[in-house]
Parts: sequence; structure tokens; C-alpha cells
Amino acid sequence: MTDKQVGVSQQGLAPLPTVLPADVKGKLKFGQPTDEDMNVIAQLRAGTDPWKARGETAAESLEALTKLRPFAAVGRLDGNVIGYITIERDGPVPGAAYLRNIVVRHELRQKGVGQALLEHGLSVARDMNRKTLALRVDPANGPAVSFYRKHGFTTVATVVSKKSGKLRLLMSREL
Ligand SMILES: CC(C)(COP(=O)(O)OP(=O)(O)OC[C@H]1O[C@@H](n2cnc3c(N)ncnc32)[C@H](O)[C@@H]1OP(=O)(O)O)[C@@H](O)C(=O)NCCC(=O)NCCS
Repeated sequence: MTDKQVGVSQQGLAPLPTVLPADVKGKLKFGQPTDEDMNVIAQLRAGTDPWKARGETAAESLEALTKLRPFAAVGRLDGNVIGYITIERDGPVPGAAYLRNIVVRHELRQKGVGQALLEHGLSVARDMNRKTLALRVDPANGPAVSFYRKHGFTTVATVVSKKSGKLRLLMSREL
């Protein structure tokens, strides 16, 4: 495989190196977000649907993510944050850990980075001694629904979001 040229940066985020390694997934490192990373992931979330479509600002994203900070892990490629995931011990399914957010930078989607973040999240949930991981997703978010199905999540209920009044799929998988 050859390295790929990537010339476009997601708005507001530092550009990634022009040449990305062919094996992006294998080169990722995971860790807790630093203060600086918090601003990066807030920009990432605010610039990405479903939050972008809701008109969420970077300041609002930062506020929401600050509450989630103890549960957040960032993925880094050569020091650049390229995505994040949040795993809480408790969520809408009693006894199950909860994946609230997973986001990959646009330029790096569909290259296995989401899978690598998810695998990290699954191991975090196992370390919490949980046996199940649950999440909620907008059924209209095709890429995310497909991603979760591919990784073994099945729909256990359809719920109404308290915030938006819209339908959400409640999905889960064993760990
Ligand atoms: C969902 C998300 C994290 C997936 O990350 P990713 O790095 O693209 O995922 P991967 O490369 O590991 O996995 C690819 C798989 O995801 C699904 N997928 C990802 N993008 C897709 C797209 N545009 N259309 C259809 N399926 C898609 C498919 O199942 C695909 O598998 P396939 O190639 O065999 O069809 C990413 O699309 C994202 O950041 N979305 C915006 C934020 C979001 O909606 N998060 C979920 C709700 S919190």
C-alpha cells in the first residue's frame, strides 16, 4: 500500500501532515485529553453532525465535553488528535457501560480509525468490569448505525430523546 495525500483540513482544526501513513490505524496512540486537547475535540464535535446540524457551538461542545472529560480518551497520530470516544460506567441500560460520543476527523474516516477508537473503548468498558456496552444513536445517522452494526451492536429498544423529542435507537453489545 502507498501513503495517501491529504490536503484538506477540517475547519478550525490544525492541518494534518500532508502524507498520512498507509497504516493509520496501527499508528494510533490513546490517552486522556490534555487541556489543549479539550479545545481540539470541542472543535471536532461542533464541526461534525449530529452536533453541527443542531447548531451546537464550540463553546457549547467544550462545556458538554468538560463534564465528560473523566470518561474521554483521544486517539493521536504523530501527536495530532484525530478522534475521541467517551465511555461512562453508567448509562440508560442498568449494569451496562455507556458510549456517549465517538468522533473521527473527517479526513480520516473510513480508514479503520473509528474501529480502533471503539476497540479502545471496549477495553475501557471491560476494565470497568462491565459485561455490556450500550449507546443511543439517531436512526438517520446512517454511517454511525452501519458502523455500530458492523461491530456487533444490535437494537434493544427505540426511545424518545428527552432533549429533542426525536427517536433514537438504543443499541448494545456484549463485551
Ligand atoms: C461513525 C464514525 C465514528 C465511524 O468512524 P470511521 O473511522 O469512519 O469508521 P471505520 O473506518 O472504523 O469503519 C468503517 C465502517 O463504518 C461504517 N461507515 C463509516 N462511514 C460510513 C459512510 N459514510 N457510509 C456508510 N457506512 C459508513 C461502515 O460500516 C464501514 O464499514 P464498511 O467500510 O465495511 O462499509 C464516523 O463516521 C464519525 O466520526 N461520524 C460522525 C460522528 C458520529 O456520528 N458519531 C456517532 C454518534 S455519537
